[in-house]
Amino acid sequence: MDHGGPRPLSRFDWVADSARLLRQTGEAFERTQPFAGLRIGTGIHLEPKTAALLMTLKRGGATVVSTGNLNSTQQETVDYLRANGIEAIGGPTADPEVHDRDLRELLATRPDLLLDNGGDLFVRYFEAPWDGLRGGTEETTSGRDRLLPLRDKIRLPLLVINDSPIKQFGENTHAVGAGTVESFIRITNRITNGRRVTVFGYGSVGRGVAEYFRSFRSIVSVVEPQPVLRLRALLDGFDVPDREIALASADVVVTVTGAPDVVTAADLGGLRDGVVLVSAGHLPWELDVPGLLGDPSVAGSDETADGITTLRLRDGRSVHVLTRGHMVNLAGPRPLGNSIESMDLGFTLQARCLEAIALGTIDAGACVVPVPAAIDALVAAAYVALARS
Ligand SMILES: NC(=O)c1ccc[n+]([C@@H]2O[C@H](COP(=O)([O-])OP(=O)(O)OC[C@H]3O[C@@H](n4cnc5c(N)ncnc54)[C@H](O)[C@@H]3O)[C@@H](O)[C@H]2O)c1
Repeated sequence: MDHGGPRPLSRFDWVADSARLLRQTGEAFERTQPFAGLRIGTGIHLEPKTAALLMTLKRGGATVVSTGNLNSTQQETVDYLRANGIEAIGGPTADPEVHDRDLRELLATRPDLLLDNGGDLFVRYFEAPWDGLRGGTEETTSGRDRLLPLRDKIRLPLLVINDSPIKQFGENTHAVGAGTVESFIRITNRITNGRRVTVFGYGSVGRGVAEYFRSFRSIVSVVEPQPVLRLRALLDGFDVPDREIALASADVVVTVTGAPDVVTAADLGGLRDGVVLVSAGHLPWELDVPGLLGDPSVAGSDETADGITTLRLRDGRSVHVLTRGHMVNLAGPRPLGNSIESMDLGFTLQARCLEAIALGTIDAGACVVPVPAAIDALVAAAYVALARS
């Protein structure tokens, strides 16, 4: 029998199908309608995984008005949202003024709930507050740090998703750990087996990066200034050499510290020939790429389209830098970011937190605080049940 050939499946279909928790939550929301009559304003990256979250909120009865973050909006996602009944303000932009205008246009619609990513919406809300905002969520650490000083002013329920243990181990450790190894292989097409990898930073992200390179058969060491975390790395079975010794033997160096200038031109003399420098930290400052490129010991550099910059040193050695020091799992050819399942967990926390605020079960004292333990437990139990079904 002729089945008529394969039907086209879009990235949005694939994500919606893979994000099983959000799908289940959307089905529940369709019955309970927690957001009936409410407008939710969202300022978060517009890409297929967030589209699945916004569609889930819409299924719960919300009118969703969205805009993206600076430099991360995908036009394809904007088109998809508009075609599916979600207002999307603006489009891809790297211009802070255009982004600011988009955020203000969103706030002018006076949402009942805000879903923020980096504090952009809540910070502007105070410039022209309105009656009726019930509270909202903030996705990131940087947003939390921006909003904490405003806590007394906000006096609304505002839950920080990043501070959930589920986000810490599900996304920071496992998803970024796996994604960093995947990105190293995707960009370099090189083997990880037997390679000496040094990871700078043993926080929630560094632990995952170290563990995933080890499971890909690398010989991993950790450089971490905090004595307790250095001990933790040692007890986890990693070598913890002094940084100069680690750098001198590393085939691959990965920084995940959140700090600037972790590897600089001052280190060039002590690096192994052919070393690959990688960063998965949020800002492109952990590897001082301009300083490395401009050092007098560097005779020149070459760049591949795939995001590898090769520094040719005057003494004949070479040093490779991936994606110019930008977050490696979000750069280079076909970057996919964190796995759908890890975002499914984080975004279900988002949906359930907004539901609780909409239903009035979170009081105003819960302002810039972590996700309530009961919501963590609900989401964790649902994921395990689906995984075992
Ligand atoms: N790539 C991604 O998708 C992604 C996702 C989540 C977080 N991040 C970023 O990863 C970075 C680390 O996040 P985290 O949650 O693990 O932070 P964290 O603060 O828990 O851990 C960072 C660790 O780095 C150590 N450190 C600081 N300076 C150092 C140095 N010069 N040398 C060695 N170690 C140093 C600190 O002592 C700390 O233990 C942050 O920039 C964060 O924003 C990236």
